[in-house]
Amino acid sequence: MPHHESWRITVTPDAEAMSELAADAVLETIRGRPDAVITLPTGATPLHLFDILARRYADGDVDFSGVRFFSLDDYLGLTGDEPNSLTAWLRKAFLDRVNLAPENVHLAPAGAEDPVEAAAAYDRALSAYGGFDLAVVGIGGNGHVAFNEPDCAADSRTRVVDLTSETVAQASAYWNDTLPIPTRALTVGIANMLESKRIILLASGRAKAVALQRALEGPVGSEIPASFLRLAASRLEVLADADAASLLQKGIVS
Ligand code: PGA
Repeated sequence: MPHHESWRITVTPDAEAMSELAADAVLETIRGRPDAVITLPTGATPLHLFDILARRYADGDVDFSGVRFFSLDDYLGLTGDEPNSLTAWLRKAFLDRVNLAPENVHLAPAGAEDPVEAAAAYDRALSAYGGFDLAVVGIGGNGHVAFNEPDCAADSRTRVVDLTSETVAQASAYWNDTLPIPTRALTVGIANMLESKRIILLASGRAKAVALQRALEGPVGSEIPASFLRLAASRLEVLADADAASLLQKGIVS
């Protein structure tokens, strides 16, 4: 990597070890600031992380009662009550398993009557809290981060977006096929992530190897939205398992 880039990467043998490091970062953030503003991603990648956090909570190692949580994204037109929404998924996988206070949980308002205005209001609410203390995010096979798809801008904020056919295809693997797959979404923007005091990018599995290589070793630009996270410099930490990191140059791996 060019020497002026001061982000870090840790490559772990497997997804479990990657998730342990991510969980440590979440706990460290909350211990340092019990009312920290955090986000965690949806998808398959964070499932181990959620299990570890739920266990650490059950063991009394962490108290989420003061934590402010903002979700990253959801499919347009879906309220959190619909089974195929990312919000419903996030509730089941994580939110309902720890003691977050309901008033501290902010969910991407993709089901709002006026989603454009609701996105702007969500952005203002996040900014009013000072933005994220910790943003843990994943990477899509096409390099997207949350639903910031290729061609997005580095200064993008929370907004309504069109999904690429690649992302729609990826989503359909998780989707109940009796329902139409949404082609639009509401997502937190790249700028919201870059404003975070700490960003952790998770990548697990061989299906992410090409996207991760391009995000970290290619040019910073909208072709691979996750590459923009490098602009956060030392505030970015990449946690990748060996499969996801398998196409990176040796020199990058610490
Ligand atoms: P995944 O999704 O964790 O299910 O691979 C990541 C993403 O597309 O952002």
